[in-house]
Amino acid sequence: MKILVTGGCGFIGSHLVDRLVKESHKVKVYDSLEPQVHLGKKPSFLNKRAEYIFADIRNKNKLKEALKGIDIVFHLASQVGVGQSMYEIEKYVSHNLQGTALLLNLIVNMENKIKKIIVASSMSIYGEGAYLCTRCGLVHPQLRGERQLKKKAWEMKCPQCDRIVKNIPTSEDKPLFPTSIYATTKRSQEEMCLEVGLAYKIPTVALRYFNVYGPRQSLSNPYTGVAAIFLSRVKNNKPPLVFEDGKQSRDFVYVSDIVEASVLAMEKKEANYDFLNVGTGRCCTILDIAQTIISLYKKDLKPKILHRFRAGDVRHCYANISKAKKKLGFRPKVSFREGMIRLIEWSQNQKASDFTQKAHLELKIRGLAQ
Ligand code: UD1
Repeated sequence: MKILVTGGCGFIGSHLVDRLVKESHKVKVYDSLEPQVHLGKKPSFLNKRAEYIFADIRNKNKLKEALKGIDIVFHLASQVGVGQSMYEIEKYVSHNLQGTALLLNLIVNMENKIKKIIVASSMSIYGEGAYLCTRCGLVHPQLRGERQLKKKAWEMKCPQCDRIVKNIPTSEDKPLFPTSIYATTKRSQEEMCLEVGLAYKIPTVALRYFNVYGPRQSLSNPYTGVAAIFLSRVKNNKPPLVFEDGKQSRDFVYVSDIVEASVLAMEKKEANYDFLNVGTGRCCTILDIAQTIISLYKKDLKPKILHRFRAGDVRHCYANISKAKKKLGFRPKVSFREGMIRLIEWSQNQKASDFTQKAHLELKIRGLAQ
């Protein structure tokens, strides 16, 4: 198959490209080499057996050229900082939505017919995860209000009876409540691809990736996910800065499991025209992440619990992966500890510049963090 991977120089994209090349597919990568992620240079890990087009996703001529002769499109190119998307609104909407619009527009108007589109969506479109109330049963509370957060009452409450509720796995039928511009663009990307796919009978699958971690995560980008941010702090002998009380949790999924699910979505037809969670089904606290990184690095550090909050953060969200299991036969293989060991091993020889405090300050100045 001839496969186009947009965002194929990125963290997830580059691993996907390696796997597709290994399976003897002809792979074309389309990537802008976003300076915030790549610091102005081509990453050393780019697969030499893939073809590369370095251009902006909104560049019509280049994207048209990239799509020539392609059978399958993986659409991963996106701006990915949640907090940053709240003050670089136009940039996020333009790259993520205009880019997707152009891609789809070209797909439906070109000569060769695309056989499949797989779009990278995100758990962030759910907003808060699903919860169980001892009195009211399954509930879907929305974000905690500022009054509650200012009182440092971190746990979620039942929207009906105000009791503290327990987090449970989030399944695909949970109502969507994006709480950032980034999440809104992810939701729209997913919907746009599925709508166009359905209308033109191009099998399309949206994969809702949970919190992905692993080698090649940008260690100098403070707008990236928490595992890379903490790693960069610890490597620089600084304590991880933990928001709230550290007991907030996510579903951390190792990048090779994400690649596995993505390839299964390409190969199998059972998930066509559908959206699926891709996570592990396990929930892990942010404090666990901080402590695991410190202990694997054997550093004499303690996470610094800030007892402050970041606007728009959800308290808990982890995946119910039954749909991916059933439709794709997906089984995550890498345990949390094994994944963390691999991440740490890789990071030993990587340069990591820590800009966390600058990023926190930026949020604070804008009233997006305490
Ligand atoms: C992350 C990604 C998002 C992706 C989603 C699902 C980023 C910025 N966010 O969102 O693109 O779609 O996973 O894969 O890449 N935290 C700290 N200290 C820090 C940074 C974060 O305590 O220095 C805490 C946050 O308050 C939050 C948790 O860690 O409670 C997770 O934050 P983050 O890694 O930004 O993830 P998500 O918001 O879940």
